[in-house]
Amino acid sequence: MRDSYKKIVFLTGAGISAESGLATFRSENGLWNNHRVEDVATIEAYYKNPDYVHDFYNEMKPELWNAKPNKAHLAITKLQKEYPADVHIITQNVDTLHEKAKSKNIYHIHGQINQAVCMNCGQVLETWGDVTSETVCKNCQVMGMMKPNIVFFGENLLYMDKVEELLRSCDLFVSVGTSRVVFPAASFVQTAKYYGADTIEFNLEATSNNFYFDKHVMGKAGETLPKFVDGLLSKVSDS
Ligand code: OAD
Repeated sequence: MRDSYKKIVFLTGAGISAESGLATFRSENGLWNNHRVEDVATIEAYYKNPDYVHDFYNEMKPELWNAKPNKAHLAITKLQKEYPADVHIITQNVDTLHEKAKSKNIYHIHGQINQAVCMNCGQVLETWGDVTSETVCKNCQVMGMMKPNIVFFGENLLYMDKVEELLRSCDLFVSVGTSRVVFPAASFVQTAKYYGADTIEFNLEATSNNFYFDKHVMGKAGETLPKFVDGLLSKVSDS
């Protein structure tokens, strides 16, 4: 591992928001434990039963609206403010806790809970209110085509050109709180490593296929990430 970095890329998953009280997807009582992915997170499900899918995401909104960023989110913001490198955040999370932590350079590759996208004209609507199959697009005025701006299984991820560029050019890749079972995000570490980045993983436990990481830090991200950030910052003040 190098002593200092010029371009740092974080990949965050549901685990970074766990200490903010939000359920992860695959834990006991996780979101996918109570729902069939095929019913609420596939494009087929949305076309078959849009109301059911809208209800699922509408019901999540109040909790995500009220959630507050935790020490792990804030540590990344601190790094962005105080460390002399370009720091980017690729997040799989549809919550807005990185934004609430006042981070910048955030790429929501799986979409955002507070957005809907018109399947007719592509217009993105920002709203914490309910979206239904009767919502009218403010741009093209067509009703019933507003889909939650969540990337469903079977759809392309967002911002992938930018993500590829970041993975190829970063010198440090940091994965935080993701089980790395959903592709392509699961393989981002491989790309970053291939192009020469140091790679480090923060998780409660060891994830599978984790051999592309130079280092694993186990524990709660709210405890481990601030220490890591302080360690990087101390090396700047030493030099
Ligand atoms: P998962 O629920 O699959 O994994 C969460 C990971 O966070 C697990 O590996 C936990 O061990 C870890 N974890 C939990 N609490 C933690 C803590 N306090 N500190 C550090 N790590 C912790 O969630 P994701 O990997 O984000 O997609 O799931 C990826 C995608 O699967 C989601 O974006 C979602 C889902 O299908 C969409 O909705 C499009």
